[in-house]
Amino acid sequence: MDNLEQLVAAAVADFSQANEPARLEEAKARYLGKDGSLTALLKGLGKLPAEERKSAGAAINVAKDRVEAALTARRDALREAALQLQLAAEALDVTLPGRGQAPGGLHPVIRTLERVEHLFRSIGFDVAEGPEIESDWHNFTALNTPEKHPARSMHDTFYLQDGAGRVETDVLLRTHTSPVQIRTMLAHVEKYKHLDTMPEIRVICPGRVYRVDSDATHSPMFHQVEGLWVGEDVSFADLKGVVADFLRRFFESDDLKVRFRPSFFPFTEPSAEIDVAFMSGPLEGRWLEIAGCGMVHPNVLRFGGIDPERYTGFAFGMGPDRLTMLRYGINDLRLFFEGDLRFLNQFN
Ligand code: DAH
Repeated sequence: MDNLEQLVAAAVADFSQANEPARLEEAKARYLGKDGSLTALLKGLGKLPAEERKSAGAAINVAKDRVEAALTARRDALREAALQLQLAAEALDVTLPGRGQAPGGLHPVIRTLERVEHLFRSIGFDVAEGPEIESDWHNFTALNTPEKHPARSMHDTFYLQDGAGRVETDVLLRTHTSPVQIRTMLAHVEKYKHLDTMPEIRVICPGRVYRVDSDATHSPMFHQVEGLWVGEDVSFADLKGVVADFLRRFFESDDLKVRFRPSFFPFTEPSAEIDVAFMSGPLEGRWLEIAGCGMVHPNVLRFGGIDPERYTGFAFGMGPDRLTMLRYGINDLRLFFEGDLRFLNQFN
């Protein structure tokens, strides 16, 4: 019995000294292996007198169970220690800055704006910009939009408040990019006032505009691209040619149908809305409105400092959000503003 006690103690000590699984298995072999000391004791049972055999066998088996339990405990301890080491090695310091920087990408609407700019530059247009906080005069008055016009109402327009919280009715978030027409004309006239004949104005004005409107197809902020061409003989035929050609190039389709539907805008006369229809794809045959346009109203030219007896011009205002939806087959405008990378990554 003493022998067994010592043997168990020796095994437990051996196991606890084994610092890695391979050493532990070697130690196990010394006790429980084919030639192990406990195995030898069990083998020796047969040589004992019959009356001792039973109790000796039981004692050896108890010792064997204890050795096996110690072995299992040590195996678990080593496995746990290895795991802790690995976890420590792989620990993340969440306060560290992220590793590297993922490449950014352009928003699909910005892609459209770049494409529109590229196409118009290729036919000699410049790109002009104007402020998003605009005066009532530029946004409405100079665009021949009379004082009682519904577009001026609080339902459509974000007016800015003064310091006392009163609505300051002559400052607002621009409701369209058309005021850039006025700014462009005034600056152009000033720049070339020393010349007898003013060079042509050919610009597009992309940018953000704001209206009190929000649902699946309207958002309080959206984009527009204004176009303006003023010169000595600019006609409605030029307008049709430029816009139709642009649209076919934008959508990369020669058999895109484009139609000019009579309409009304205070700042153009005559005015039209521009519809397109695709000849294939899911929207085949459906007319979709994408822009307003017309010949610049004489009053607007005058507000821009230009003599309407001498110069004529055309203008258009289109919706690049809509162009983007059509080009990529997007059906909900709100996707543009949610910042969901699963959506945005598809364009990069
Ligand atoms: N400003 C108009 C709007 O926001 C769009 C527009 C229509 C612009 C006709 C133009 C134009 O330049 O000629 O609804």
